[in-house]
Amino acid sequence: MGTRAAPEPIRAAVSVACRAPSVHNSQPWSWVFSCGSLELHADRLRALPVVDPLARQMVISCGAALNHLEVAVAAHGLGVAVDRLPDPGNPMLLASVAFVSADDSERARSLRAAIEGRWTDRRAFGTPTDDALAGLQDLLGGHGVSLTFLGADGPSRLAEATRSGAELRRHDAAYRAELFWWTGHSGTIEGIPASALPDGATVPVGREYPRGILEPPGASDRAALAVLSTDSDTRLDWLRCGEALSELLLEATVRGLATCPLTHVTEIAASREMVRAAATASGARGRFPQVVVRLGTPSAGEFEVPRTGRRRVDDVWHDAGI
Ligand SMILES: Cc1cc2nc3c(=O)[nH]c(=O)nc-3n(C[C@H](O)[C@H](O)[C@H](O)COP(=O)(O)O)c2cc1C
Repeated sequence: MGTRAAPEPIRAAVSVACRAPSVHNSQPWSWVFSCGSLELHADRLRALPVVDPLARQMVISCGAALNHLEVAVAAHGLGVAVDRLPDPGNPMLLASVAFVSADDSERARSLRAAIEGRWTDRRAFGTPTDDALAGLQDLLGGHGVSLTFLGADGPSRLAEATRSGAELRRHDAAYRAELFWWTGHSGTIEGIPASALPDGATVPVGREYPRGILEPPGASDRAALAVLSTDSDTRLDWLRCGEALSELLLEATVRGLATCPLTHVTEIAASREMVRAAATASGARGRFPQVVVRLGTPSAGEFEVPRTGRRRVDDVWHDAGI
C-alpha cells in the first residue's frame, strides 16, 4: 500500500542522494516532488556532449542517485516502489518513485554511513582480500547487471585500452576543452577539484586528468578490476547499471575498500571492444561493458581528503506543491 510521503523527509533524503557519484561530478539530475511521490529527471543542461554524446553516463549517474535515494529514505521509515522510464514520450523522466512504509534495516544503516564515507580515490590501491570481494557478484544480480572480475592479465589489457584511447584523444581539442571545463578547479560545487586529482602520474588504467594536488603513494596499483556489463545497451540498462554501480560502491565502502569508477575505456568504440574482450575472457555474460571499477585497500597513511562539492539541494529540488 503506497504512502503519501511528506515533502520534508523526502527533501532530506534527496539531499543525501545527491552525494552519489556522477561523471565529472556533473550531477545531471533534478527531482520533482508532487502528490507525495517523486520524479527523477535527467538534466540535459548538464550533459557532456563530447565525452558522452548518447547521454549514457548521464543516465548511469542518475541511476546511482536513484539507488542512493533508496538507501537514504529508509532512515525515514520508507521504502520505494520505482517505475523506471515511465513515459516513453519523455526520455528525460528516468523514474517515478512512490513511497511505502518500511522498517529501517541494519544493512540500510550501514549503506547510509557509506554514502558519507565513499569517495573516488584515483591513487594506487593495495590488493583487496578475497573476503572483501566475496559475494559482490550475487549482490548485483537483482539489477540485471553482471559484475566480472578481470583475471591476471586484466590490468595490462585495460592499460592498453587506456593508452590507445589517450592516443586517439591527444589532439581532440573538443574533448580536452570539455575535460578542462569540468576538472582541476578549486572551491567549486561541481566538477572534479584539484584536491581529488593526483599530483603526477595516475595509475596505468586511470583517465588522464589535469594535474591535481593529491600526493600519489609510491607503490604501484594492485587493485582488482571489476567490469559492470549489461545484455543490451538501452536507456533502461544504463539506469539499472547506475543503480548497481551505487550498490557496489557503497557495499565496497562498508567493507573498507577504496573505489574508483572508470569509463574512459568505455567511451571510445575501440577501447570498449578491448574491455569487452577482457571481460568475456574472464567469463562476463553481458555483451556491453558500461563501467569498470577499481577496488582495493586504501593507500597506507591515508589522510582525510576533502569531499568533492555538490550543488545545493534547492537547485535540484522542485516541489510541484500539489
Ligand atoms: C558514470 C560515471 C563515470 C565516471 N568516470 C570516471 C572516470 O573515468 N575516471 C575517474 O577517475 N572517475 C570517474 N567517475 C567518478 C566521478 O568523477 C566522481 O564520482 C565525481 O567526481 C564525484 O566525486 P566523488 O565520487 O568523490 O563523490 C565516474 C563516475 C560515474 C558515475
